[in-house]
Amino acid sequence: MATVYLNDHFMPLDKAHVSVMDRGFLFADGVYEVIPVYAGKLFRLEKHLDRLQRSLDGLHITYKIDREFWAKTLKQLVVYNSDLGADQSIYLQISRGVADPRAHVFPDSSTTPTIFCRCNKFTPKTIETLREGLNVITHQDIRWEYCYIKSVALLPNVLLSEDAKKAGAQEAILFRGDRLTEGASSNVFLVKNSMLYTPPLSQQILGGITRDLILELAKTHKLACEETELTKTDLQQADEVWISSSTREVVPVLNCDGQAIGNGKAGPVWEQMINWYRSYKQTFALAQN
Ligand code: PDD
Repeated sequence: MATVYLNDHFMPLDKAHVSVMDRGFLFADGVYEVIPVYAGKLFRLEKHLDRLQRSLDGLHITYKIDREFWAKTLKQLVVYNSDLGADQSIYLQISRGVADPRAHVFPDSSTTPTIFCRCNKFTPKTIETLREGLNVITHQDIRWEYCYIKSVALLPNVLLSEDAKKAGAQEAILFRGDRLTEGASSNVFLVKNSMLYTPPLSQQILGGITRDLILELAKTHKLACEETELTKTDLQQADEVWISSSTREVVPVLNCDGQAIGNGKAGPVWEQMINWYRSYKQTFALAQN
């Protein structure tokens, strides 16, 4: 039985209960993080906690992240769930808390946020499997204007992911008008003439931790890259397209709306990036944490 963390206590999953008056349940009034764990170590925890604080602030949920407390608590949770293996992914959710009666406006400032965390099994794909790539569809970005907040209100993302699945694809790449934003649950990169491109950060995309790392690795290894607005034509005419997220890492897109990207195979720039990414991970796993 998984051990989970709920409101200051570790407990078995089947003992973890939340009130039906929780605003997370009634209004999707909450935020979350997904944090990979490699060799028992929390990958880029600081960055995830920074983003969690930004998301909380974005929703005006009064909760100050205590880094030391969270590092200790999450490490403890990973140890309690060591039967899942040394690689895991942590789901962490904070809602505004329980408030009765139901009312749209914020409850009393004394309301305590509901905090829930659990570990999930995580088996990163081998490079060979990642190389097989995936198919995407394109779709209008039907989400709200504050996509930089990692909110649990994921219904548009859920519907978009389902549309992709029905079309035999594994991700939907989203556009506001003709401007590419991101995937339904990932960030997007294009390669053209050996140069890497990704849309700039804005309120309308989630600042992915994996996106940051890819840009960092590109800089370290002197791969030319630019954060710039991209269109559907840029996507269709790209030599390579990748999507990135904490649980998918960096995956090549081989087909978009039924048309091959480039030569329909994982490209050489992706091969470089995934090798840089994997060696970064390896160095991280060997380092103290
Ligand atoms: N989603 N954009 C969206 C809309 C996302 O949902 C995600 C990740 C990302 C990539 O962010 P990161 O690199 O920090 O994982 C971008 C997570 C994994 C999820 O919802 O499960």
